[in-house]
Amino acid sequence: MKFYFYDSASDTDQGAAKSFIKMTNGIATPKIGLATGNTPVGLYQCLVQAYNQKKISFKTFLTYNLDEYVGLTKDHPQSFAYFMNEHLFNGVDILEGNIHIPQGNVESPHVEAAKYEKLLEDAGALDVQILSIGLNGHIGFNEPGEKLHSKTHVIELTEDTRRVNSKSFPSFEEVPLSAITLGLGTIMKAKKILFIAKGFEKADIIQQAFEGPLTTDVPGSLLQLHPNIEVHLDKEAASKL
Ligand code: GLP
Repeated sequence: MKFYFYDSASDTDQGAAKSFIKMTNGIATPKIGLATGNTPVGLYQCLVQAYNQKKISFKTFLTYNLDEYVGLTKDHPQSFAYFMNEHLFNGVDILEGNIHIPQGNVESPHVEAAKYEKLLEDAGALDVQILSIGLNGHIGFNEPGEKLHSKTHVIELTEDTRRVNSKSFPSFEEVPLSAITLGLGTIMKAKKILFIAKGFEKADIIQQAFEGPLTTDVPGSLLQLHPNIEVHLDKEAASKL
């Protein structure tokens, strides 16, 4: 694990963007795992800026998002598909056919999860997985529990997660009850992980994930086992390490 500490959230975004550009440079067809949530928004802004400054092109990139809410169409303002368009894809030269996100509004989310898993298996290991962590230790939507899944699956969201995520929904009731998420196996298979966290509210979970015991109660703690992970933290998120 390689840690990078920054004085501010915006320095963290810029540092992570620099790393991302370095990690993908020289790869003909970079396969990238993408995350949503507030954390990567600043990184995506930096990448759009870097694209405008001709420091990076996404033309040959293949992207695979970590997760999607069950039941939401891709043009639903709270779907992760919509989020990605807003925060990254609309601002860069990525080809639409190269974007992959599990579909939330399907008849059988389980079938969709299996299809997405097959897609990832055929693609092979991702070159870089961008990742952050939920307040309860989830990565992607792999929620704490007695067991963790290796493959893409449908997961019931915990009430905690639904409450935290309700900030971006008109009301708590509108937060979907479940999601499709990559499993830990696929996340851990990525050749490199670019992990980011910012803010005091993440300080406890960052301490537990990176210094605590490996436990399914903190899915992020498994990242300690990854051979090639960069952890980019602002000083608030790092304050309990
Ligand atoms: C979300 C996502 C995760 C993300 C986490 C933290 O719901 N499924 O991929 O890392 O919650 O979100 P935030 O960055 O807003 O704290």
